[in-house]
Amino acid sequence: MAKEVVLSGIRPTGFLHLGNYFGAMRNYVRMQDEYNCYFFVANWHSLTTHPDTKTLQQSVYRVAAENIACGLDPEKIALYVQSDVPEIAELYLYLNMLAYKGELEKTASFKEKVRLNPENVNAGLLTYPVLMASDILIHRAVKVPVGKDQEQHLEMARNFAQRFNYRYGNVFPEPYAFNYGGELIKILSLDGNGKMSKSENQMATLYLADDDDSIKKKIMKAKTDGGPAEPNSVMPDYIKNIFTLMQQVSTPDTVKKFEEDFNNSSTGNIIIRYGDMKKQLAEDMIAFIKPIREKAADLQNNKELLLKIIKQGADKARASANETIQLVRKAVLG
Ligand code: TYM
Repeated sequence: MAKEVVLSGIRPTGFLHLGNYFGAMRNYVRMQDEYNCYFFVANWHSLTTHPDTKTLQQSVYRVAAENIACGLDPEKIALYVQSDVPEIAELYLYLNMLAYKGELEKTASFKEKVRLNPENVNAGLLTYPVLMASDILIHRAVKVPVGKDQEQHLEMARNFAQRFNYRYGNVFPEPYAFNYGGELIKILSLDGNGKMSKSENQMATLYLADDDDSIKKKIMKAKTDGGPAEPNSVMPDYIKNIFTLMQQVSTPDTVKKFEEDFNNSSTGNIIIRYGDMKKQLAEDMIAFIKPIREKAADLQNNKELLLKIIKQGADKARASANETIQLVRKAVLG
């Protein structure tokens, strides 16, 4: 039986961080053995926010290198750059005819961008979810490993696929957001203010390129409080986030110890020592990030190899995209 198709992408708008890793890339690495996987660097998507061309190009290479450094095997998967697959742009054109202004204006990510940059509300930003649907549907992918923040975009991709199939005949399966373990993940910023992101508050974001010292400093500064008032209290979001990070990089016994300390603490009897917890987390996080950082740096210094991997990925992706676009053209244009 043919393997199910998986696709996901990351915008090269800055350094990759733990949100990207735990929300998306960790799944990529596991999925590469079970599925037919396409992973890509979404450089067209970044153009919506007008990056400097030179910086953009460097970020494309860095994101590609960081993807491989996290454990992707270029022989098993296709790792490519979006702009190397022009079939995506053609599909975007057809899907744009099926996407409506009202629904696009209601998208949460669009409203957020308008709020942050009211001077740059361009049409690319409005149709961002259509381009994203094209990325997915061009390979007729069914599983899309992403973090929680992409859920609405996936719902829109399903709507566009359904509309296309209804109007032109059945070409596309419906894609779903995926995470091993079910629930999609959202890693919060270390200061407890919203999600960890590439561009906001760098001191509260752990990057895969951070050196050991920065990792330690950032974790030691993570927001905590005086401890729970009662035994078995509900954890505030920022404390839960520290536990979430610990679950990813520390041993189960370590996590269990601190969970028990939290649950047994109450005002006047605080057992949990957040300082110790953060020190342990920093140590385990350094051990986790270091090999990724080093491998990514090596790859960025070996441009020839990196370019070869990206070219090989583009060839694989174009072969798959070409099959789909033939079906699409026939369905739409006759
Ligand atoms: P981007 O570049 O913002 O993020 C890349 C991936 O990282 C996940 N992520 C997070 N997960 C958990 N917690 C966080 N704090 C966090 N921050 C980011 C994102 O959910 C995403 O999976 N529109 C996409 C890129 C894209 C794409 C696609 C993804 C373009 N076309 C097609 C999937 C399929 C984006 O901007 O991701």
